[in-house]
Amino acid sequence: MKVGVIGGGQLARMMVPPAIALGLEIRVLAEAEHSSAAIAATAVGDYRDLDTVLAFAEDVDVITFDHEHVPEPVLRALIERGVPVHPGPDALRYAQDKLLMRARLTELGLPAPAWAAVHDTAELADFLAANGGRGVLKTPRGGYDGKGVRVISSAAEAEDWFAALAEDGRGGALLVEELVEFRRELAALVARRPSGASVAWPTVETIQRGGVCAEVLAPAPDLSDEADAEARRIAARVADGLGVTGVLAVELFEHVDGRILVNELAMRPHNSGHWSIDGAVTSQFEQHLRAVLDLPLGDSSPIAPWSVMANVLGGPAGEAFTDRYAEAMAAHPDVKLHGYDKTSRPGRKVGHVTAIGASLDDVRSRARAAADLFG
Ligand SMILES: Nc1ncnc2c1ncn2[C@@H]1O[C@H](COP(=O)(O)OP(=O)(O)OP(=O)(O)O)[C@@H](O)[C@H]1O
Ligand SMILES: [Mg+2]
Repeated sequence: MKVGVIGGGQLARMMVPPAIALGLEIRVLAEAEHSSAAIAATAVGDYRDLDTVLAFAEDVDVITFDHEHVPEPVLRALIERGVPVHPGPDALRYAQDKLLMRARLTELGLPAPAWAAVHDTAELADFLAANGGRGVLKTPRGGYDGKGVRVISSAAEAEDWFAALAEDGRGGALLVEELVEFRRELAALVARRPSGASVAWPTVETIQRGGVCAEVLAPAPDLSDEADAEARRIAARVADGLGVTGVLAVELFEHVDGRILVNELAMRPHNSGHWSIDGAVTSQFEQHLRAVLDLPLGDSSPIAPWSVMANVLGGPAGEAFTDRYAEAMAAHPDVKLHGYDKTSRPGRKVGHVTAIGASLDDVRSRARAAADLFG
C-alpha cells in the first residue's frame, strides 16, 4: 500500500515511522529540498500546480496531507482521475476557511463564540459595540501559529487588514469573534474512516504562549465528565457532519461559565496529539495512516495516567536541535525527544518532548525541564 502525503513539514515526517513499522510505502511531495520530511520526499514542487500534484499522485493508493492548503480544484482533479483523497475537498474546505467553518458549524448547531463576517471597519465597529468593545479578528485563510489572529479594541486597528483585503480584489471578508473569557483551552482529537467508524483520544488541555501551542496535558486535568463528554460529542458531530476522513482536531475553549465552544478545526494530525506517539497505544500518525487507507482503527487508550508534551519553540540559536542531545539525554533519560530537522528561528516549532508517568506534577516538570534545555 502506498500513501502519498502532500507537504513536507514535521507532520509528514512523523507519519514516516508508523508507515515503516506497518510496512507501508510513504511518499512525500515537499515544497523544498531539505524539508522536515525529506527522508520520504520522492518529489519536490509546488502543491498548487496541478501537473506537479498529478505526477506525484500517479501511482499511490491514497493522497493525504501535512497541511490544509492544497487548492480545491487540484483536489477535485485528483478525484476525477480516480485517486482517493482523504480528507476530501468537501470536508477540507471548512479547515481552509475559518468563515466557512464558522457558518457550517453554526448550521450544525455546535457551540461557538459570537462571530460575524465583516467587510469594512463600519461593520467591525458594529460588532465590537455589541460585544463589549473588544474582539478577535482573524484572516479566514492561511493563518497558522497565531499569525492572522489579532485581539482588537477598536475598528481602526484593523485598517491595514481591510486595505490588504481590498487590494486582493476578491470582495472577501474578515472573521471577527467575541474575545472568549476562557478558563483554558482544550482539544478533542478523533480519527474517522471513510466508511464512518471513528475512534477518539482523551480530551486534552492545550496551553498557548503568544498564540502558539507550548504545552499539552493529556488527559485534561480535572475535566468534569460532562465537559469531557461534550468535547467528544462536538468532535464526533464535526467529523460526521463534515464527512472528515483521517485525523480531525477540534480546538476548544472551556469558558469560565462552563460552556465548551469550538475555536477552530484541523483535518490532519495536530500538535495537540503529539503526546500520543509516546503516550497512547496508537499514535495519531499511525491512526491517520490507518484511517486514510480505510483500515480498522487502533486502540487510542493512554499507556500511562499522564502524558505531557512540550514544544521546543525557536530552538538553540546558532545550533542544531541535536547539538543539545548529549546534555538533554543525560539529564532526562525518561523523556522522549523529537527533532524535526528544522533550522532554529525565533518562535519556530523545531521539535517537541514528551514525558509520561503517574504524577502530573512530576511528568509536567520533567517535560518542561527537558524542553527548556533546547531553548
Ligand atoms: N475568540 C477568541 N477568544 C479568545 N482567544 C482566542 C480567540 N480566538 C483565538 N484565540 C487565541 O488565539 C490562539 C490562536 O487562534 P487560532 O487557533 O484561531 O489561530 P491559528 O493561527 O489558526 O492557530 P494555530 O495554527 O496555532 O492553531 C488560540 O489558541 C487562542 O489562544
Ligand atoms: Mg489554533
